[in-house]
Amino acid sequence: MTVLVTGGAGYIGSHMVHALAEAGQSVVVIDNLSTGFSAFLPEGVPLFIGDAADENLVEGVIAAHGVESIVHFAGSVVVPDSMRDPLAYYRNNTMTTRSLLNAAVKCGVNNFIFSSTAAVYGNPDQVPVPEHAPTPRWRQPPGSAPRSMCSEPTTRRRTEAASGISFT
Ligand SMILES: NC(=O)c1ccc[n+]([C@@H]2O[C@H](COP(=O)([O-])OP(=O)(O)OC[C@H]3O[C@@H](n4cnc5c(N)ncnc54)[C@H](O)[C@@H]3O)[C@@H](O)[C@H]2O)c1
Repeated sequence: MTVLVTGGAGYIGSHMVHALAEAGQSVVVIDNLSTGFSAFLPEGVPLFIGDAADENLVEGVIAAHGVESIVHFAGSVVVPDSMRDPLAYYRNNTMTTRSLLNAAVKCGVNNFIFSSTAAVYGNPDQVPVPEHAPTPRWRQPPGSAPRSMCSEPTTRRRTEAASGISFT
């Protein structure tokens, strides 16, 4: 079984790739190197330089490597940038995830781990934060993806603030 790690050349994703490789797990990475570095990867791990939203690329990698699980770290994470250019963040954090999920569904990849953000827990009462802690700022149904759920209203608000556009 091979695990596909998107954003595997990034800060968090590369730690996951190292942990998987050290555990003897077959792993393959898709990363567009927009903020990541190929040097972060352990030797021997295949890196496909491209976009996680490119369904042809993703489907090809899944087929060629027998991918059965995807761990999704490919995203944009710099808060000031997200305020300046909310639509680019919406595209990369929501639409990329949508395309990746579409490719996963088409190829029958049923195991999908989504790297969200601890920010959904607000100021938690308990640290380390347990997974069942409440998410006070936005309530998501069990198993949903907070990054996607919060990005639509956030993007609307931020686009309005950044561009003056008015939504009805
Ligand atoms: N940094 C943290 O403390 C932290 C904590 C918890 C969760 N996370 C989450 O982990 C994920 C990664 O965060 P990070 O801090 O490692 O950021 P990062 O910028 O270091 O890593 C993101 C990686 O994804 C790649 N990438 C971005 N968009 C891509 C795309 N469309 N296609 C292919 N590759 C793409 C980048 O080149 C980079 O290698 C984010 O979803 C973030 O919310 C981060």
